[in-house]
Amino acid sequence: MYDRSGNYRSFDIWVYLQCNVTDNWPDHHTVHVSCKFTTYFGHTGPSSCIYGGIEGWNKMASPTSRPEPALSWLDSAIRVKPLQLADSWKKQQVEDALKKIHLTGAQVLRIKEVFHSEVERGIHEQPSSLQMENTYIPELPNGTEEGMFLALDLGGTNFRVILLELSNGALIRENVKRYHIREELRLGCGERLFDFLAECVSDFVRSQNLGGTRLPLGFTFSFPMIQKGLDVGILLTWTKSFNCPSVVGRDAVQMLREAINRRGDTHVEVLAVLNDTTGTLIQGAVLDKKTAIALILGTGSNACYIERADRVQHWEGQRHGEKEVIIDIEWGAFGDNGVLDFIKTDYDRKVDENSLITNSFTFEKYISGKYLGEIVRVIVVKLVEDCVLFGGTVSDALLTTGAFTTSFVSLIEQDTVGNNCENTPEILDKLGLSYNADDIAIMKYICETVSNRAALLVSICTATLLERLDRPDTTIAVDGSLYKYHPRLKSWMNKYIHLLAPEKKFKLLLAEDGSGKGAGLVAAIALRLKQRFSQT
Ligand code: BGC
Repeated sequence: MYDRSGNYRSFDIWVYLQCNVTDNWPDHHTVHVSCKFTTYFGHTGPSSCIYGGIEGWNKMASPTSRPEPALSWLDSAIRVKPLQLADSWKKQQVEDALKKIHLTGAQVLRIKEVFHSEVERGIHEQPSSLQMENTYIPELPNGTEEGMFLALDLGGTNFRVILLELSNGALIRENVKRYHIREELRLGCGERLFDFLAECVSDFVRSQNLGGTRLPLGFTFSFPMIQKGLDVGILLTWTKSFNCPSVVGRDAVQMLREAINRRGDTHVEVLAVLNDTTGTLIQGAVLDKKTAIALILGTGSNACYIERADRVQHWEGQRHGEKEVIIDIEWGAFGDNGVLDFIKTDYDRKVDENSLITNSFTFEKYISGKYLGEIVRVIVVKLVEDCVLFGGTVSDALLTTGAFTTSFVSLIEQDTVGNNCENTPEILDKLGLSYNADDIAIMKYICETVSNRAALLVSICTATLLERLDRPDTTIAVDGSLYKYHPRLKSWMNKYIHLLAPEKKFKLLLAEDGSGKGAGLVAAIALRLKQRFSQT
């Protein structure tokens, strides 16, 4: 086979099949097979290496002994700075404990292959951990959006109701009110949650003196849902800090409408339901027309992008000649079918065990703000148990699930980036721990390693999406607390995405409050489509 520079390369293809047979075969067989394959030229420089990606690889479980190609160029590009400790025993213990958190170049390329394959399978409605949900949003704001719109934003522990006034597509007024959602509502009966949302809408509308005004509404519902249209969103599963079991399998829009009707004191019309990533893409497109991908890197994580409509198989209802449509990937669930098990560590398993909904949202648990701090905490506890950290003494706070927040990770990373030591001791004091200089260095190293893995994972998937889009230059709209407050997530992402999609020009753009502003804009688009389709 010839590489891109015309040089002939020969290589072996090794395919490992895991056989799920119940007779007396051993579990793993190494077989040479001839099969259809795609090649991936990881790098075209002198240390060029060919990584054979096997179609359907993801269907196979992780083999116990797959030979990994040496990818020294990638290995060194993604490596974090080594831990500097005078105590070589401690240093070794920490390195051993974190070994599996450091991804190798070979693993990185394999994740890329697997993600690509899952995207393909998802979009073709084949079994995949990626939902690839059609949002039914076929166009972006075009500057004609006019009038007053309500936006609801449900996803975090605060529910927001927003009034947006648009003129020629530009926002000329925005009033926002936040309502805290108590835990008993987040974890209780669905009707009570939606009654509470309706109560907030009513309170807000009254406070704006809009009781008698007809208001089109866009509902940002940032959870995985099956969309059967622009205003139908059937909850697939809760994530983050919500778990009201009676809502799963039901249409969130219908539940909202019913709750609003039960009160009967407002004139809002729910026109669209959307995800926060979708809102971010729409908001990004207002800021920069090249926007075609959006990411949320916050408490939860997700991505969406603009897909060619002819590639989208799942389309309920009539098509109207749409050329493109926004696809909500729901990448938080990437790996829920086991395709990412080859990078799962015992720490990840522990984090999952301690989570509200176990065995779900594998990828989100590797990368998002709800879990990064918890991964660090679990690693730290193990190192205390091994007498490597804090002289082997834990504190009650350190033993509490969720007590080490991702904001701590960002603050400790600030110390590392700024080469100082202000935040780390403060955090350790807060957690009631006694520490010395080695403990501080180790804490910094753990936070860097865990953050770097998250940055890499996000970048791998983003690079894969960039390659999927047939665009010369793409803007990626990003929002979320992790992205905003982590001091070097953005710079790592810039580096890794470039490394993994070297031929693609891109820009990361902070597009704040897509779940608010984007929802208003989507309601305006929905209104436009409704009027257009009713005329045809
Ligand atoms: C949800 C997504 C959402 C993301 C970011 C995830 O937990 O499943 O729908 O976009 O969080 O809020």
